[in-house]
Amino acid sequence: MRSADTKTAGEEKSAISYDRMKEQIEKELFTFFEKAAPAESVQPHISFEKGTTRIAFSSQPITDKMLVDFLLLIKQHIAHVRVHGFDSGYYAFQALNANMFKTENVLDNFKVEFFGLSSSSRVEISKKGSLTQEEVNLVIELYKRANSSERQNPAIRLKALGATIVPPDNNLNWDYIAGYDEVKRKIRESIILPLKNPALYDSIARMTRKVFESNRPRAILFDGAPGVGKTTAARIIANESEISLVYVPIESIMSKWYGQSSQNLSQIFDACEDLGDAIIFLDEIDSLAGSRDQQMFEATRRVLSVLLRRLDGIDAAASTVTIGATNRKDDLDHALISRFDQTIYFPMPNAAERAAIFSNYARHLSEDECSHLGERSDNLTGRNIKDICEFTERRWARNVLVKKAEPSAPSFDFYRQTLRMWKEMK
Ligand SMILES: Nc1ncnc2c1ncn2[C@@H]1O[C@H](COP(=O)(O)OP(=O)(O)OP(=O)(O)O)[C@@H](O)[C@H]1O
Ligand SMILES: [Mg+2]
Repeated sequence: MRSADTKTAGEEKSAISYDRMKEQIEKELFTFFEKAAPAESVQPHISFEKGTTRIAFSSQPITDKMLVDFLLLIKQHIAHVRVHGFDSGYYAFQALNANMFKTENVLDNFKVEFFGLSSSSRVEISKKGSLTQEEVNLVIELYKRANSSERQNPAIRLKALGATIVPPDNNLNWDYIAGYDEVKRKIRESIILPLKNPALYDSIARMTRKVFESNRPRAILFDGAPGVGKTTAARIIANESEISLVYVPIESIMSKWYGQSSQNLSQIFDACEDLGDAIIFLDEIDSLAGSRDQQMFEATRRVLSVLLRRLDGIDAAASTVTIGATNRKDDLDHALISRFDQTIYFPMPNAAERAAIFSNYARHLSEDECSHLGERSDNLTGRNIKDICEFTERRWARNVLVKKAEPSAPSFDFYRQTLRMWKEMK
């Protein structure tokens, strides 16, 4: 037995058994493998021989920056460490005793060695006896750091998590959405102005608040029937404010990552934060619907709880704005609704708006013709009208081909007919 003062700093916390350590590391890494590990990374090799615990794993090529990261990680978990560097490409970090000046048995203490000599880099960890919980945590973090060069790239991480960064589309601006002046005004005031002038909003908050906190919106809910332009509006906001739009289809995340969806959602938020400014668009937020009193699946409940925390001040990223979209606000959890600073309701288009939507997709028609179609398309959404116009064009094109005529735009009558057919079909 070593005497008390030759124990490593932190060894007061009791060591955990080899089996439990192995199980913990494997469990953690299993999750990591599923999500973030590059395809070529391999499981660590864990063994206990001649009273020494050894853990070895390969690493992405070890760069100077990674070494510094490793050192910082090690320092977070171990009080005193000594660094050896022999040849270039070999570094060892050796934990010292609680009394740093006693060197007795110091080589039995927790040690991490980095071999970066050749193209294949490797990390080896060893210690006489068992690891403490703190040391196990460190091993897991070292492994993740060593095997996730991709962590650097939030776009790749987002893709692996089932989210997409929507590329900007310069053709898409507010003219694309016909009507909806009130919705556009609200969006401009509550989202676009703050996103474009963050300094102004902050300086006002500095003058008013006892304790500074941002007055910028963190989360806005878009509520409205399917096809009324919610997703399109989010894309226009991203274009206008020149901020990346990260599209997160909640429903497919939930099914794709069954059982792990809550961690994934957390990681999506983390990746967005690393991206710098970002608009997170949580689509189909209804898939989390159902009040908490009703029976709710465990996964849904956990995803919801991550979302509640992320949308709250505490865990929320400073530079991201979240937009949630729902078709059924009334069914959403009340705690969730309350996290949104504001709801913007997208109504069904009225007759004048429907006429305007027709004129967006059939600009060759006269105002009267569009009004006529607008009046006869009660209860149709922008999506329905767009579909009707596309359908008309395809029918017309077939006609042109059959008649071997010169290309032309469909006649008003064709639109009227298609609209009638559409209504009969539904
Ligand atoms: N007012 C409008 N003017 C022009 N086009 C519109 C309008 N409203 C909807 N559209 C068109 O309808 C299509 C569907 O819109 P969008 O996907 O934005 O709807 P959504 O509200 O997100 O629907 P969902 O709830 O099903 O996701 C888009 O192509 C959009 O351009
Ligand atoms: Mg949508």
